[in-house]
Amino acid sequence: MNSSADALCWFGASGDLAYKMTFPALYAMSKRGRLTVPVVGVAYSDWTLEDLRERGRASLAEHATVDDPEALDHLMASLRYVDGDYADAATFEALRSTLDGLRSSRPAHYLAIPPSLFGEVVESLGSSGCAEGARVIVEKPFGRDLASAQELNRIVHRVFDEDDVYRIDHFLGKQEVLNLMYLRFANSFFEPIWNRDHIASVQITMAEDFGVQGRGRFYEEVGALRDVVQNHLLQVVALLAMEPPVGQGVAATRDEKARVFKAMSPLHSKGIVRGQFDGYQNEEGVADDSDVETYVAVRLHIDSWRWAGVPWYIRAGKELPVHATEVRVELKAPPQRVFRETSLDHGDDDHNHLRFRLQPQPEIALGLRSMVPGDGIEGRASELTLCEDVTDERTPYERLLTEALAGDPLLFTREDSVEAAWKVVEHVLEDHPAAIPYVPGSWGPPEAEDLLPGKHRWADPVMPGDERR
Ligand code: BG6
Repeated sequence: MNSSADALCWFGASGDLAYKMTFPALYAMSKRGRLTVPVVGVAYSDWTLEDLRERGRASLAEHATVDDPEALDHLMASLRYVDGDYADAATFEALRSTLDGLRSSRPAHYLAIPPSLFGEVVESLGSSGCAEGARVIVEKPFGRDLASAQELNRIVHRVFDEDDVYRIDHFLGKQEVLNLMYLRFANSFFEPIWNRDHIASVQITMAEDFGVQGRGRFYEEVGALRDVVQNHLLQVVALLAMEPPVGQGVAATRDEKARVFKAMSPLHSKGIVRGQFDGYQNEEGVADDSDVETYVAVRLHIDSWRWAGVPWYIRAGKELPVHATEVRVELKAPPQRVFRETSLDHGDDDHNHLRFRLQPQPEIALGLRSMVPGDGIEGRASELTLCEDVTDERTPYERLLTEALAGDPLLFTREDSVEAAWKVVEHVLEDHPAAIPYVPGSWGPPEAEDLLPGKHRWADPVMPGDERR
């Protein structure tokens, strides 16, 4: 754990992410008494400090509930502003003198800027002296393949030590995601069943019931595999699959996570199904003949003692029927059928499972069979559900910025993990089957079922009112 930063330098302060996410996060931090450092906005927009404040007020009016005037005043008073071209050394001299004026010796530089600008900004932070005693918080996407991620790491490491690099994956700022790791290691009943002897397979579904929301140009460069699987969903896998950390401390946990990424077998083209929703090609910035996937399903294996032979099925898509992210752990069926249940003969073979709904409303459920009243012995599948009203008020960005300023790297991705995760998807970034069209509002291409063996099916997230409960 590093010491707390004494200033936040916020590159890209005039941008979209700043407007939608960062201002609300800073306001929330201010409300909670966690904004204790000055925030120096940096952008090339021909703005003044007053313009930045104005933008902040507009952002909060749209993306937050401003119910604490003092917190708002505190945020506005904490802001400073440096305007200038990132290619111009004078911008960084101005930043250095602003930091000197603030007597800052441990600034945190938050790079909410396109990766194409990282190189020159990091170099200039180094040459201007702004990197001394500093840490850097890097926004995603961290590369678009293994080579570009390695290159970004090389660039960042020319100036910053790995211990001072905080790579953002906002899924790690979600309490429900962290809870997966917490549940496993804070309860004793998980461990005995958490392995290939008891778990038949794991499914992770990230369904979004909306399209690319005007981000067609961005999506064309990315696709679902890069956008949410290589990062967010593989992080979820790592938290579910990691070994208990050996010893205390953040490094021990990060080491175990890194081991999972390294044990994942690289995906190959037979283990991936890609889809594209009808209408995607009409989005602005999308090519008429685009083959970019808005849906992807993969079958993944983790080559470790614990997980040998257990398939991990991951799917993510836009324009699916619901908005939900859910993990479903299928437990192996009992070894014998003790009861002659006719419902089982008729295909009601819902095995025992554990279900973790991560969003929108967190839920933990144990799927089991229990007896129904009537003649003979007959059962039905039902769920024991824990549905606490524990939705975290803190957004991932509030949590992540707070932790990065405090110097706790637990929720940030480490160089070796990021590169190992790219290695998992590397082959199929180029070598993959064509995207299959699907109808918006459907569950994507039916071909995705072929990734699962025999009569196994993708289990759609269980939503409120669903009779499977
Ligand atoms: C982002 C992706 O990283 O995550 C988006 O770029 C996706 O395409 C989003 O919609 C999902 O995050 P959340 O927190 O809204 O579930």
